[in-house]
Amino acid sequence: TPITTKVDKLIEERLPRRIQTLLRFLGVVGDELLMPTYLVGGMVRDLLLNIPNYDIDVVVEGDARIFSHTVKRYFDVKIVEHKSFKTSSIFFSDGVRIDVATARTEFYEEPAVLPNVETSTIKKDLYRRDFSINAMAIKLNHEEYGLLLDFFGCRKDLAKGIIRILHNLSFIEDPTRILRAIRFEQRFGFKIEERTLQLLKKAVNDGYLERVTGQRLRDELEKILAEPEPQNAVKRMTKLDILKHLFPGVRHSKELQKHFDRLFTRWETIEKLTNESRKITVMVMLVLENTPEESTDWIISRYGFPKRLPEVLKTSLRILKKLQEMEDWRFSNLYRLMERPSAEIFHFIDAHFDEKKSNILLKYLKALESNKPKVNGGILIQKYGLKEGPEIKMILKELYCARLEGLPESEEEAFVRKLLKEPPEMRGKR
Ligand code: CTP
Repeated sequence: TPITTKVDKLIEERLPRRIQTLLRFLGVVGDELLMPTYLVGGMVRDLLLNIPNYDIDVVVEGDARIFSHTVKRYFDVKIVEHKSFKTSSIFFSDGVRIDVATARTEFYEEPAVLPNVETSTIKKDLYRRDFSINAMAIKLNHEEYGLLLDFFGCRKDLAKGIIRILHNLSFIEDPTRILRAIRFEQRFGFKIEERTLQLLKKAVNDGYLERVTGQRLRDELEKILAEPEPQNAVKRMTKLDILKHLFPGVRHSKELQKHFDRLFTRWETIEKLTNESRKITVMVMLVLENTPEESTDWIISRYGFPKRLPEVLKTSLRILKKLQEMEDWRFSNLYRLMERPSAEIFHFIDAHFDEKKSNILLKYLKALESNKPKVNGGILIQKYGLKEGPEIKMILKELYCARLEGLPESEEEAFVRKLLKEPPEMRGKR
């Protein structure tokens, strides 16, 4: 028997009206269909922690698809069915999404067994879940609305800040939970419970991460990187040998961790000045820099990273080396070396430099923005009769460099005219 507590007051205090109305309504639909209906998972956890989370996950003891289609009779919603998982998603026009699943019991139940009493069905569903903190349910049916069901000491773990699996095969059954454990531990500042940690380590060392598709691991990794300050999670992953099992052959060093640290702490600042890019792409470039070349293709195809990544890495390393050798970091020199690097290349390079140099790089990006020449290729062709080709490119490059060195915008054309008086072979060589 579960520990049961009424949390309807908590719902009233902590959830927006709109969400509360929806939850009540879902209970009414459950009543109409005679289906026990529960709110489960992360939203229950976060309600208790008083963290906003309106990802509504519902479990019904009955057919989830029938449930969703009944909701559709009352509201103008879109339904998406996922046949293989016996789940369906309900999309409201204002962006609210509800995932509905049929309580899963097949893991423990023999096929011919008759349906169990209601609490034991939801209990089995909850028992199959990842961690105790995610394994509570709140009943939504009218009569018992707001009743929190806690079968496994979940609430105590949540209060104590403990990440605990519910059965010994949890990581074997779903090795992505190895990464989820790290994510929740870092996000909430919780601790992975001792036996759970032993089983996690064993699953890692027995090669269970290798049994999961690259896509699923990548999804989990991206979720880790989407958390604030993911560098601690990455450090933890390294300590637990997870990085090594995700990226075989990676040579881990203090240096690499330092590069990760810089990458993630500087991300937001740099991101404002570059095009969009993904943390995971740059992280993998840093990994590949420290991995034997023969593993590159395997890693790229396993996780579906862009095929051009090795080329991008090569370019980055070439620029990096020159930068490390370059003594005079004036902006025109930086421009001659790398012009405006792509976002990935910039993040990657930046991670290799200390605060002082990183600041110069950042100022360089800003200078590129504020000193963009007004004169462009079109003007050179129309007004100065130049032909499309490398010469135009060279003149524009010289002009950009001059602007970065302080040439005012009003003197651009004079600068171009002067440049055009020089014989072509001199241009760009000064
Ligand atoms: N779940 C699980 N095993 C997994 C993934 C999910 O048991 N490998 C269960 C957990 O009960 C989890 C719920 O499904 O709470 C919803 O999963 P998800 O939305 O991925 O995670 P949340 O717990 O909601 O976390 P977040 O706050 O990051 O969305």
